[in-house]
Amino acid sequence: MIETVTELARLRELVTGWKRQGLRVALVPTMGNLHAGHFSLVMLARQYADRVVSSVFVNPTQFGPNEDFARYPRTPEADMRGLQDAGCDVLWLPSVETMYPLGTELAMRMHAPGVSDVLEGACRPGHFDGVCTVVARLFNQAQPDVAAFGKKDYQQLAVIRQMVSDLAFPIEILGGGIVREQDGLAMSSRNQYLSAEERPVAAEIRKALVVLRDACLAGTARAAAEAAATAQLEAAGFQVDYAVVRTPALTEPDEAYAGPRVALVAAKLGRTRLIDNLEF
Ligand code: PAJ
Repeated sequence: MIETVTELARLRELVTGWKRQGLRVALVPTMGNLHAGHFSLVMLARQYADRVVSSVFVNPTQFGPNEDFARYPRTPEADMRGLQDAGCDVLWLPSVETMYPLGTELAMRMHAPGVSDVLEGACRPGHFDGVCTVVARLFNQAQPDVAAFGKKDYQQLAVIRQMVSDLAFPIEILGGGIVREQDGLAMSSRNQYLSAEERPVAAEIRKALVVLRDACLAGTARAAAEAAATAQLEAAGFQVDYAVVRTPALTEPDEAYAGPRVALVAAKLGRTRLIDNLEF
């Protein structure tokens, strides 16, 4: 049976007890409204640990003033059932007061320079500061040996890897593959904001990523391939924040670069902002 924990003292008691028995502990941080993408991370974490803690916390410090914090979908009952079925041991459900004892204004803030300043960081100022601020807290609360994050939020994973290595958190970071709907749309809690007319159009993001990847692999100049992907998305009705190809560190690959790359898109369809990416 999954145990829902809302008090830090109880979480610590459980984790300390497990560690005393020599068990490895995994953490899967989420903002709830869980879907198969989240559950795949719980199952991944299970392979690397004996106990899995999943947190559900809609983190106010990572939302911009005009973003969807207030209307972000909250579905605690379904989340708990889904986590139980996925093999999660503890649902960590902290209050805002537990997460930010001094309040969000006085809370110690984190910033990962460089990797968090481009792409999503440029479009959503302060977003990754909020992510690092809450993830560092979650790490200190749950004290996991391993933590799992999805490649769906590719840059978030890179930012967290930088934070963990720079601050020497003794935590192994796992990156889970992107779970998609049948038509290729990456699963996301924000997909439910899409209207019935917008929903099939949203699958165009994945198609544009495939075209962008194939163009780069066929030797098309990067700038031309990125412009074509942007035009393809705009023609489908998107407002494009970026459609680019980057190195895994999110830097711009030069002509001579021959290592792994990733195509990344962020685009708005109506009121809904979607992100996706494709490694190659
Ligand atoms: P959230 O959007 O709930 O996502 C929680 C985790 O699930 C993230 O690591 C995300 O990359 C992963 N995820 C989401 N959709 C996925 C999909 N379709 N396939 C695979 N993994 C997927 O990301 C956050 O919450 C927050 O920023 C958080 C890290 C919890 C900090 O508040």
